[in-house]
Amino acid sequence: MDEKKDISNPAIESFCEKKDITILAIESSCDETAAAVVKNGREVLSNVIFSQIDLHTIYGGVVPEIASRKHIEKINQVIEEALSRSGMELHSMDAIAVTCGPGLVGALLVGVSAAKAISFATGIPLIGVHHIEGHISANFIENKELEPPFVCLVASGGHSHLVVVKDYGEYEIIGRTRDDAAGEAFDKVARAIGLGYPGGPKIDKLSKEGNPDAIHFPRAKVSENEYDFSFSGLKSAVLNYLNICQMKGEEVNAADVAASFQKAVIEVLVEHSLHAVKAFGYDKFAIAGGVASNSSLRAAFEAECGKRKIRFYHPSPILCTDNAAMIGSAAYYEFRKGLRSGLDLNAEPNLKLGER
Ligand code: KG4
Ligand code: ZN
Repeated sequence: MDEKKDISNPAIESFCEKKDITILAIESSCDETAAAVVKNGREVLSNVIFSQIDLHTIYGGVVPEIASRKHIEKINQVIEEALSRSGMELHSMDAIAVTCGPGLVGALLVGVSAAKAISFATGIPLIGVHHIEGHISANFIENKELEPPFVCLVASGGHSHLVVVKDYGEYEIIGRTRDDAAGEAFDKVARAIGLGYPGGPKIDKLSKEGNPDAIHFPRAKVSENEYDFSFSGLKSAVLNYLNICQMKGEEVNAADVAASFQKAVIEVLVEHSLHAVKAFGYDKFAIAGGVASNSSLRAAFEAECGKRKIRFYHPSPILCTDNAAMIGSAAYYEFRKGLRSGLDLNAEPNLKLGER
């Protein structure tokens, strides 16, 4: 595994204080080919996202082979567009940042190879970024006053993590899912009720027409760790409910199923997260990842944080789902610490948070 070199020294920190740091960031871990130019970690000069969703919808989920091929086709164009929209030249970038894991290995490799090639050809330093660190950092872009420490719920298609952000780049995972990620549960339930992929936005929309109290679905508790999540039981309960209706010849009200399922997910996410914020003694809480763009989830956190006097932060929906601006933000804080990757940087599909 590539070891990120720590070249930290006080001179770099003071150099960063004086000069603007501009980073070209690349993200290709799943089905979005994305590039962005980010100044000083919080100012997005451009944010280009090519979504492959239409290509994968007919298969009901992301097909890794197709994702890799499309990334190859699009990556140069997306990078060039990000640079041109930013109004900056490649040679004036201070670093090239890229998501190096976790994710689909073939998809990650495209971004990592592109970033390494640019770094090699130009001599601009390379910074490998953890995808989840990127999602968390999306909060820094629009909330200029947000500084660690805070608690962050990362809920995406592949992850449901409760993380204490102790400092920039310093994380402690205090809870995680034991089985399905929250986004995965949204996608599976959406498929079962005939909504197709990606399920999250479709359930979000359909739920508005349904009654969230129509069906009571279980809220799983994990006995060994009160901050862990489990969504597979909830998903099975929805599938059982649909099967029973079918056997009885009863018509299913898809909007009621969507709203009731969504309420069950949100209740668990809110309860575990805010319990953790208080128990660990923090007063700031943020959400991140694709599921964080869910309108009811945002409203629920807004209301509950308000009641508990917790300051609530969230990125705009476009910065919740996969994008490269969040990678540029995370990379800035690594850059400031003097962390750089070598040209032996590799795609790491199972990279753990804190390993990079
Ligand atoms: O962060 P993301 O773009 O990719 C991963 O890193 O996984 O998250 C994608 C996930 C998908 O499972 C998608 O269904 C879910 O986020 N998602 C949503 C919403 N928008 C996207 N889930 C619930 N409500 C939404 N509005
Ligand atoms: Zn993601």
